[in-house]
Amino acid sequence: MIPKLNIVPFVSVDHMMKLVLAIGVERFLVELSEYIESDFRRWESFDKTPRVASHSREGVIELMPTSDGEVYGFKYVNGHPKNTREGRQTVTAFGVLADVGTGYPVLLTEMTILTALRTAATSAVAAKYLAPKNARTMAVIGNGAQAEFQAVAFKALLGVDKLRLYDIDRSASTKCVRNLAGYGFDITVCGSIEEAMVGAEIVTTVTADKQNATILTDNMVGSGLHINAIGGDCPGKTELHADILKRSDIFVEYPPQTRIEGEIQQLAPDYPVKELWRVIAGQETGRTNERQITLFDSVGFAIEDFSALRYVKKQIEQTGLYEELDLLADPDEPRDLFGMLLRAAVATPTAA
Ligand SMILES: NC(=O)c1ccc[n+]([C@@H]2O[C@H](COP(=O)([O-])OP(=O)(O)OC[C@H]3O[C@@H](n4cnc5c(N)ncnc54)[C@H](O)[C@@H]3O)[C@@H](O)[C@H]2O)c1
Repeated sequence: MIPKLNIVPFVSVDHMMKLVLAIGVERFLVELSEYIESDFRRWESFDKTPRVASHSREGVIELMPTSDGEVYGFKYVNGHPKNTREGRQTVTAFGVLADVGTGYPVLLTEMTILTALRTAATSAVAAKYLAPKNARTMAVIGNGAQAEFQAVAFKALLGVDKLRLYDIDRSASTKCVRNLAGYGFDITVCGSIEEAMVGAEIVTTVTADKQNATILTDNMVGSGLHINAIGGDCPGKTELHADILKRSDIFVEYPPQTRIEGEIQQLAPDYPVKELWRVIAGQETGRTNERQITLFDSVGFAIEDFSALRYVKKQIEQTGLYEELDLLADPDEPRDLFGMLLRAAVATPTAA
């Protein structure tokens, strides 16, 4: 049971890890994907805006708000590709849900782990509609923090069980092999992107670099492939050669944001793309034939975070895996905020 109104449930990193492990990573991803799909089906009921980004030489800090009219959510997230060289994460995040009726926050939570889970769940949802039927083999280019989450989501939702890994830093691939040991994958660590692409029916690109990189060139992409492009998610930060985009059917989250941040920033502003939510809602077709190249140009959108926050709130109500945070000043007489401060002086001895 969630306590008094002035107390906000807070999910620390420790509690998030306990929650994910108590539910099980695969089940968490499957249930979260159901929340994402159900929110994408009611896409039109959300307030939507491209995220508010503050760019600097080294990275970006972003705020990602949305509301369905009853609940409001936002995420604070950064992207700093150089961070791992200093022992920090490239991406960290936290988020808030609030009651629209009172404006009071009803959840504050870590979202670094939750972002990796929601990104992976969204990718797997997209692939359910776009990847070749019965695809089993996925190349994963970039084996950093997001990589295992992507792999496990594709296994849990699609049955992908063969991975072909490549990273410029081999120790990242070795880390993935170690972490995925208990998940029943057949894993091959490859010496080049070309080698990783051999036999792949799906490729996930999830590299971090603050530039227009060319992780995939046109000649690496054969007919029928599904491309799950995760790493290009900022202006001036892409992973695919533009020629690939012109041969693909492109699916995006929220076009006004993806046209600024996604792979399609390389194309004309009116280049035709399809919205993933329309495919999920049955208004638009996903994959239509075996030879089609499908591209999910993922940048991450606020509604996915909203779904994740909603799911976590439900789970902590059932498990009690949260702390009570004294976050909101809430005097008994609402207008006596100053009086509340003075009464605290009586209880708090002043420093000598
Ligand atoms: N689309 C989304 O919703 C979403 C969500 C989270 C993260 N991201 C993006 O995904 C990317 C990866 O995030 P992360 O947290 O895993 O970062 P990370 O820094 O932990 O891992 C990135 C990996 O990419 C490797 N790499 C860099 N250049 C490469 C290249 N040319 N070829 C092969 N490997 C290369 C690095 O060695 C590293 O292991 C970031 O760019 C991040 O912004 C996107």
